[in-house]
Amino acid sequence: MNTTIASDRTSEQCHADLLVHGGTVLTPNGQERIDVACRAGRIVALGDLRRRWTAEETLNASGLHVLPGVIDSQVHFREPGLTHKEDLDSGTRGAVLGGVTAVFEMPNTKPLTLSAADIKSKVDGALGRAWCDFAFYIGGSSVNAEQLGSLENLPGCAGVKVFMGSSFGDLLADDETVLRRILHHGRRRLAVHAEDEARLRERRAIVNASGDICQHPVWRDEASALIATERIVRLAGEANRRLHVLHVSTAEEMALLARHKRRVTVEVTPHHLTLCAPDCYERLGSLAQMNPPVRDQRHRDALWQAIGDGVVDVIGSDHAPHTREEKASPYPQSPSGMTGVQTLLPLMLHHVHGRRLSLERLVDLTSAGPARIFGLEGKGRIALGFDADLTLVDLAARRTIRNDWIASRSGWTPYDGETVIGWPIHTVVRGHTVVQDETLVGQPRGEPVGFLEA
Ligand code: DOR
Repeated sequence: MNTTIASDRTSEQCHADLLVHGGTVLTPNGQERIDVACRAGRIVALGDLRRRWTAEETLNASGLHVLPGVIDSQVHFREPGLTHKEDLDSGTRGAVLGGVTAVFEMPNTKPLTLSAADIKSKVDGALGRAWCDFAFYIGGSSVNAEQLGSLENLPGCAGVKVFMGSSFGDLLADDETVLRRILHHGRRRLAVHAEDEARLRERRAIVNASGDICQHPVWRDEASALIATERIVRLAGEANRRLHVLHVSTAEEMALLARHKRRVTVEVTPHHLTLCAPDCYERLGSLAQMNPPVRDQRHRDALWQAIGDGVVDVIGSDHAPHTREEKASPYPQSPSGMTGVQTLLPLMLHHVHGRRLSLERLVDLTSAGPARIFGLEGKGRIALGFDADLTLVDLAARRTIRNDWIASRSGWTPYDGETVIGWPIHTVVRGHTVVQDETLVGQPRGEPVGFLEA
């Protein structure tokens, strides 16, 4: 189907900053063989445009699929305070090289992101340095609970993030009274890391004694995740608050969340969909260590089932870099977290190739889904008037993921040496080509993402 919807008919107006031509474009209608004209950062025409439109720059998309820009709703970019692991430049470089056009960054930096000044300094730090668009989560804690209603609406704020179980950094809100205070201040969807702190403390002795990385999902077991998820779903219901459960890792949580879909949205990571215990721990040691842990086949199958059933709303990478030296500390002193922003799309395209999900469902999870559940302004779909954020992929490209391709300061990926089919080739952020033929080009022009409800 060809839909020429350029509303502007004068020859003067048929000039674009960027014309993407010859590709198969993923629009709300499905897959269409159309061209995309972009001007002043937005999509201004779709259809068979080559005869009527001229452009400053053209991108030949023949043989490629043009997806709405991929939005990664969970990354840790470590600035300020931990920039030996990552910073906003290296983190967003990795993002665009991996086809990601916008990121939501997490608050467990040093200092933690808890105040208006903390958000402002992150936004200021990203302007002129970030290669993709960005928003920053504010941490929800006992010290700022009463201010969250105004803090969550600051420009560049993605909303409130709560750690119910300690992971990396000092941000923790495990007490029910504190959780209630947080839930009662603010209206936006609240994002949560759900692991039960009391149970984690109780069971820590298991790994202190053994020092065995294979015990990571035994220490931080299914019940640790389920108890916390049950609690926060109940408390959010009492507070009439919308909830977003990050990196869901168990079959039991998915069954629970499926019963609460009207209020609660669900995120999974490519790591939990791709890696599997015990194999990943045996092969990769602490490089496979993250929280909540990668679990066994039963849970991985349940996450895929939840994607098939529509229970999962978005894919977030939980990009959480630590240096190889830090990772080499004996378990359990080794920190949890793996890089992921750059491999999110290659891995998921490989799963499309393997028919685990359709390309349309992937777009729903990585673009339309985040736009819908977080209320993003002008993002998440290829349609007239939307931001010209485009991720151009070659579904047939075979590439081997290598550590030296990873832009992260930490310089490694758990997928080093893995071959995938499906790869991002060009990345366009608001009409600016920032990756061309797999190479970084142009300037870092990232801007804060706008939220309709902020
Ligand atoms: O594995 C993890 N690492 N999980 C988290 O929740 C935090 C993250 C980090 O910041 O390193």
